[in-house]
Amino acid sequence: MDEPTFRTIFEPFRIHSVEPLRMSTRAERRGYLRDAAFNLFQVRAEHVLVDLLTDSGTGAMSRDQWAAIQHGDESYAGSPSYYIFTDAVRELFPFEHVIPVHQGRAAEKILFSVIGGPGKVVPNNTHFDTTRANVEATGALAIDLPVVEGRDLSSQHPFKGNMDLAALEDLLARRAADVPCVFVTITNNSGGGQPVSLANLRGVRGICDRYGKPLFLDACRFAENAWFIREREEGQAEREVADIVRDMAALADGMTMSAKKDPMGNIGGWLAMNDDDLATACRNTLILTEGFPTYGGLAGRDLEALAQGLTEVVQHDYLRYRIRSTAYLGTALQERGIPVLSPFGGHAVYIDARALARHLDPLEYPGQAVAVALYETGGIRSCEIGTVMFGRQPDGTEAPASMDLVRLAIPRRTYTQSHIDYVIEVCEEVAANADALRGYRIVAEPKTLRHFTSSFEPRP
Ligand code: F0G
Repeated sequence: MDEPTFRTIFEPFRIHSVEPLRMSTRAERRGYLRDAAFNLFQVRAEHVLVDLLTDSGTGAMSRDQWAAIQHGDESYAGSPSYYIFTDAVRELFPFEHVIPVHQGRAAEKILFSVIGGPGKVVPNNTHFDTTRANVEATGALAIDLPVVEGRDLSSQHPFKGNMDLAALEDLLARRAADVPCVFVTITNNSGGGQPVSLANLRGVRGICDRYGKPLFLDACRFAENAWFIREREEGQAEREVADIVRDMAALADGMTMSAKKDPMGNIGGWLAMNDDDLATACRNTLILTEGFPTYGGLAGRDLEALAQGLTEVVQHDYLRYRIRSTAYLGTALQERGIPVLSPFGGHAVYIDARALARHLDPLEYPGQAVAVALYETGGIRSCEIGTVMFGRQPDGTEAPASMDLVRLAIPRRTYTQSHIDYVIEVCEEVAANADALRGYRIVAEPKTLRHFTSSFEPRP
């Protein structure tokens, strides 16, 4: 008999422990916004109804991850938890050296402090903000080389996260001596959570080989990327996601990793590579900043939770649910005429705030205006990814970012479809009043990563 097919997205888990969400009124939220100087990073989480600020470290751990926590061994050196962790990482990413760190940016900081420096250039399909900041902090230049389709909001290209191979070739032809390594971010978070194809990775690998350059993956959302490859790339449809992940790893020489995303951790990360000398230099820096090499900045129990999470994230039932639920939100917004980036990313739906609030100049921060309105209207916390995040240039001037997006990032296994239906209603309400949104100006900002701590004021 044929397997019956049902339309409803089946959440392949049931709830085991619940966290209360406290309702708030619009008037209360106006007050919270003023207290936070209109910066959503400064709002207290208990004043948020649906927190879509990030999918990083905000997912729900499984019963088996909590059980693994009990198995954690807190020995300073040589903990069995370290070996369980490295075995789980190497099952998917068989690099010679696996160095635990407390989160992704620690891996970036360590790696770039070893291989970066003034005069160096690091190409990436698109740097995430901390990656860019860590490259630039060493005096090196961070260059984004996405394919043109990645910048085109209407393009339906299946792999909008791909790197522009011709641009990479051109950069290496001119400046090979200055490039310590080539980076590919999977999925391309700042480019809309869009995937990179195996074919593109092979192309990058070929160019790296011609110029003798190592290829590193920023692999936070590797499982989502592999699922998209399975769904969209020719010849991949019947394959196990874990095998696709191993193919991606085999094309690279190393990786940085935030285990707060696909590995289902609330904290953690790693740095991995094949090069022995580079690993020695990185471990020496690690000891200064993170801890002994068998725990990085983590507790043994965290290492065990990650090892378990890595076995769960490559399961097809989970990934099918994950990618479909992101698309469910994206489709609903699209059907209500709200401009969103499509195809939808893996971990988030991105509203095109520049298109939604057309009357605002990019330097009036349309993304900020939409994000603040989503919070005020319905207590939804999202994240501006646009001119607030990227507008400040290394020379101190300000320029519009290539896009002004508002990211609705979906924590893993955390919210139900009813929560998402509520989000859809709130978005609809904000969109209906978008013409009246006021722009913002920044009244105080730090030197780097200004989106986290800047103070804002609505424009008159
Ligand atoms: N690389 C990518 C592609 C990321 O998305 C992130 C974090 C990092 C590196 C840094 O990792 O946070 O563990 O230090 N992204 C989160 C986000 C913060 O909201 O997209 P981290």
